[in-house]
Amino acid sequence: MKTIFSGVQPTGIVTLGNYIGAFRQFTELQHEYECLFCIVDQHAITVRQDPAELTKTIRSLAAIYIASGIDPEKALLFIQSEVPAHAQAGWMMQCIAYIGELERMTQFKDKSEGKDGVSSALLTYPPLMAADILLYNTAIVPVGDDQKQHVELTRDLAERFNSRYGEVLTIPEIRVPKNGARIKSLQDPLKKMSKSDPNKKGTILLLDSPKEIEKKIKSAVTDSDGVVKFDVKNKPGVSNLLTIESVLSGVSIDDLVVKYNGLGYGAFKAGVAETVIGHLSPIQDRYYELLESSVLDDILDEGAVRANSIASVTLGKMEAAMGLGRKR
Ligand code: TYM
Repeated sequence: MKTIFSGVQPTGIVTLGNYIGAFRQFTELQHEYECLFCIVDQHAITVRQDPAELTKTIRSLAAIYIASGIDPEKALLFIQSEVPAHAQAGWMMQCIAYIGELERMTQFKDKSEGKDGVSSALLTYPPLMAADILLYNTAIVPVGDDQKQHVELTRDLAERFNSRYGEVLTIPEIRVPKNGARIKSLQDPLKKMSKSDPNKKGTILLLDSPKEIEKKIKSAVTDSDGVVKFDVKNKPGVSNLLTIESVLSGVSIDDLVVKYNGLGYGAFKAGVAETVIGHLSPIQDRYYELLESSVLDDILDEGAVRANSIASVTLGKMEAAMGLGRKR
């Protein structure tokens, strides 16, 4: 069975963009593949985090994974920092990567531009991400659109490693969802929906109350012609809302356009809000139940043991190939 690997950062509350771009793919794929899902806490500390808050968010993210439908009987869920091979292989990947290619990463440019005191780890973030993926002989990496460039770099680094040191690493494929690979901000539909958006009205959080969701969708930026039509270029706001409703309801965009024909944006937004609330409510209920239970620790303990046993084998091969340590 082919292996799937993906990760999510424990920073703030997961957004509807994360859910559609990542979690929904994960829950579908767990039935067909050997899946490993990771809480990438070492990536989170590339920008300064409050330690107590980070610890809480790691647990909260574990609950979100399970509440969204990850079945711990099928998929492995673990915390990156509990598998030391990630940092060790991450260092080797840094030695393979060139500064120039890291500086070209758009996420590095976005997160560092105009800022003082940018950590060196923000630049070397992608080699750690490459290590995450490559340690598990990953065949496919399901991500949203914004992570494509990092997975492409992972492929380049793996190829470079193999050509220098022998065929040790599996070259992974990228998988982005057909619909919803880049969910946009409700306030600026040309920008992606993001946890770090200072305009909170633009981002739906997975744990938002029905009232908050309704308010945010009601005030979503659309356009002035009042026609519900899918046209990303000329009607980005309406197209974003159509994508959200289509992905969450399973109804095609064409059928939604027919459903809202002649109804105007008030009814359209009310319909989208109802779908989002209806989809997220049971996830939220499961989330709060899980946080109270001890089951999460059992899942994460088991995940760490199994991930360590797989990762240490690949790490050993990488070290041997590079000639690290004593002669074998
Ligand atoms: P992160 O934590 O920023 O995002 C988690 C996942 O959510 C997707 N995503 C979106 N998808 C659609 N629309 C959006 N608006 C949207 N916003 C975020 C992201 O593409 C991602 O799939 N570097 C990664 C974490 C990581 C990782 C890995 C991923 C570390 N190691 C190994 C895959 C494999 C990140 O910061 O994702």
